[in-house]
Amino acid sequence: MQSYIQSAEEILKKNDLGSYTVPTHGLYPFQWNWDSCLTALGQFHFNEARAWREIETLMAHQWDDGMVPHIIFHKEDDGYFPGPDVWATGRKVPTSGITQPAVAGFAVNRLYERAKDKALAGEMVRALLPKIHKWHQWFFRCRDPQGTGLVAIIHPWESGRDNSVDWDVPFSRVPTDGVLPFQRRDTQHANPDHRPTQAQYERYIWLVQLFRSLKWDNMALRDNSPFRIVDPGFNAILLRSCSDVAKLAAEVGLDDIAAESRSFAQKGTLAMDALWDDDFGQYICFDRAANELIKSPSISGILAAFADIPAGRSKALAERVMRLSSRCTYAVASHDPAGEGFDASRYWRGPVWLIVNYMIADGLRRAGQTDVAEKIKHDSLELIEKGGFRNTMIL
Ligand code: DGY
Repeated sequence: MQSYIQSAEEILKKNDLGSYTVPTHGLYPFQWNWDSCLTALGQFHFNEARAWREIETLMAHQWDDGMVPHIIFHKEDDGYFPGPDVWATGRKVPTSGITQPAVAGFAVNRLYERAKDKALAGEMVRALLPKIHKWHQWFFRCRDPQGTGLVAIIHPWESGRDNSVDWDVPFSRVPTDGVLPFQRRDTQHANPDHRPTQAQYERYIWLVQLFRSLKWDNMALRDNSPFRIVDPGFNAILLRSCSDVAKLAAEVGLDDIAAESRSFAQKGTLAMDALWDDDFGQYICFDRAANELIKSPSISGILAAFADIPAGRSKALAERVMRLSSRCTYAVASHDPAGEGFDASRYWRGPVWLIVNYMIADGLRRAGQTDVAEKIKHDSLELIEKGGFRNTMIL
């Protein structure tokens, strides 16, 4: 155990650029939104103040409308595509123009609960909660026009699960005409067989070009994107953050934030049930543009365990993890190995992702599904020992 902790600390220190941390040198040379929040949870173990700084830096780049971008391009680095010139969002410190899973509320609550320096934690919470809440309000305003309680993503990169099988059908409706010629950089840093395909990249960029042509007006993006998906894992992270913000805001006397956050969490958690699929025994995505459920058994529907879903659903998800585990050596594959489109080595189409395991185990533990939570933790540690700190799949 000690050696894992030491190597985790060494990696975080190596990737630390002072006020933000890169997910990895080379492939991801800037600050990424959810990576940063989860990184802060690790930094907390050896430097509490530095952990708070990570989230402060991220939130300092929030847009005026409340959106928190998925990449902050703090400095130039031509080793990444698409860089700031492609996004062209017009920000002083350039950022991308889309968002990412809203895990900041959860992270801030966890840092606060575990803080030894309570004075610093209190100060940080009072400064950060209004910003995080503004981001949550942005989600429900800009990504839930009908007021269903659940929000849609408008680009696969927002989910963090770039090339999930979930997007195969919706992507067949995203065109590629007019995509300007580009040169990918990711395949220079990573094995192309593990990364998204060229056809997927063309669609990623087509969407970016469309959003840029709409001048990054979030209402226009919401109404014009042909890709609008209600992703259960993405929503679960947002709803868990809303409920953590509600608890924390009540504790520090921010009563209006507490009340609205509680109502976001309650409404969304009830709405989530419409995404339940009895055949797979897990949640699935809903394609808002096509008005249909996406019958694809990905990890997103299991990550829903991170929110305060009903006890019966948590139990069913725990059983689902065990059923999936009987087909792989390690829990939890990012796509069902029996499902169409599964690929043991390609990014989000099969490999296990440790941060997702962490969130699923956390949710299951809270719901009393301790044995399965322990199994996920045990498998994750074994995977780290065999494959290192990265996404990995050993069937
Ligand atoms: C990438 O470029 O691979 C990212 O996942 C986009 O955020």
